Amino acid sequence: MRFYLTTPIYYVNDRPHIGHAYTTIAADIVVRHRRQRGEDAFFLTGVDEHATKVFRVAEQQGLTAQAYVDGIAGAWRDLPGRVGAEPSFFIRTSDEGHKGFVQDFVQRIYDNGHIYEDVYAGLYCVGCEEFKNESELVDGKCPDHDIAPEWIEERNWFFRLSAFQEPLLRLYDERPDFVRPDFRYNEARRFIEGGLQDFSLSRAGQPWGVPIPWDQDQVVYVWVDALVNYLSALTYAHEREDLRDRYWPVAHHPIGKDILRFHCVFWPALLLAAGYEPPQQVFVHGFLNLSGRKIGKSLGNVVDVLGLTEVYGSDTIRYWAARSVSFGQDADVDIETVNERYERELGNDLGNLLSRTTAMIARYRDGQVLDGRCALAADVDRVGTRVREQLDGWDLTGALDTIWELVRRLNRYVEERKPWEQAKDETRPSELDETLYTLVDGLRAVAVALAAYLPETAPLILQALGQAGDLSWENVAADRTRPAEGIEPAAPLFPRVEAPTRAA
Ligand code: MSP
Repeated sequence: MRFYLTTPIYYVNDRPHIGHAYTTIAADIVVRHRRQRGEDAFFLTGVDEHATKVFRVAEQQGLTAQAYVDGIAGAWRDLPGRVGAEPSFFIRTSDEGHKGFVQDFVQRIYDNGHIYEDVYAGLYCVGCEEFKNESELVDGKCPDHDIAPEWIEERNWFFRLSAFQEPLLRLYDERPDFVRPDFRYNEARRFIEGGLQDFSLSRAGQPWGVPIPWDQDQVVYVWVDALVNYLSALTYAHEREDLRDRYWPVAHHPIGKDILRFHCVFWPALLLAAGYEPPQQVFVHGFLNLSGRKIGKSLGNVVDVLGLTEVYGSDTIRYWAARSVSFGQDADVDIETVNERYERELGNDLGNLLSRTTAMIARYRDGQVLDGRCALAADVDRVGTRVREQLDGWDLTGALDTIWELVRRLNRYVEERKPWEQAKDETRPSELDETLYTLVDGLRAVAVALAAYLPETAPLILQALGQAGDLSWENVAADRTRPAEGIEPAAPLFPRVEAPTRAA
């Protein structure tokens, strides 16, 4: 099976924060999981460089836009690595390969008769990079960015979005899972049913962007330029291979709810207009909020959770992101919970379980894992099937919960079986063998199931249990433990750290 996963490409007018890292983490978890299932998965992320706001920041800093984006690109290129994500390719919309493809793409739409010239006048929010209706404003300001939109009047090239209402509704009828979760599908569908207005696909008077091939005085509207990245990257990510054959249209786009219309309405319409198939699915997630407001630079409330990766490691931040916010919903985040989850859940529930298990094997069985049968086979097997289903439905938080149920079950099992007492009773050695085998087998399955969430920690667990190697998903099942020897008490997986008193 082939699987193509993208993140939105991020505006570079600012430095990365946890709100951006959030989608990257989620996407990376799903990609890693799919690869464990043996799927051929391609993972794209990158940056959106041609925005007006990017151009303005460059101006303020006395730089050309290109010099500015070249300067900041490195910080964005490092973002996936900071949260343990491994994209297959990192796209910049100033790449020559991208710009050329955008021109071909809009030319195709033009040749297909879906573009016409007109004059547009309206209120434009530079934060959203979008024209706004009066009705969308609160006290004359864009509620998402808290800034007043600007009046713009220009001759532009228009995309005939209105002509795509029927084809889009057909798409939504045929594919009820085109947009997930359900309430987002309904929101997008209602928007389409409400009637679609043509939109301006070009901008005049801005030198920064991809020139319209048939009118060099205008540049392609930044949102069209940006959306096309999902296709353009496939044409030049590998030097001699056009990956569109492999990965289009099996594309899945996780996005934040603020960019739903662009992905659920404009993007499939643009694709149809250019003669491409729409992607397979858009998954819309919520916001991480601080005091009820989206974390973001324009609102000045950036929380440096990302900086905490240096203190707690990237696995902890991945775990925290998947765990704290039910994926798909909005949630208030609290930076204090990073330390709490690190100590209680990762350190106590998981880390101590490994320490105890390995210490008992070292002490009672001279470091040997013997062959045996898992007494909690049903609990272990359930994780294999359930997590798979949950991750197919983007329930990242629920899947992690399912894995944690097994972690807690194993902890209870230690208390129930009291292996330290079993060890004293030399007449019943098989009971202790069963306890130890069950713990190793359960922890081994937990590690494989967690590998997508905790890519650094999972191999350490397997190694400590003498089970290093194979992360394939079929190993998230009972009785796959191999006999091993030389097991030593494992070093703490999540050693105590000095919690930073305040966010930097
Ligand atoms: N450049 C456009 C996307 C173009 S995709 C073809 C853009 N960039 S952005 O940098 O402003 O936002 C990128 C993504 O980050 C969006 O999905 C947005 O929802 C997400 N987030 C930014 N802040 C966020 C939170 N505080 N919480 C969760 N996600 C948020 O839009």
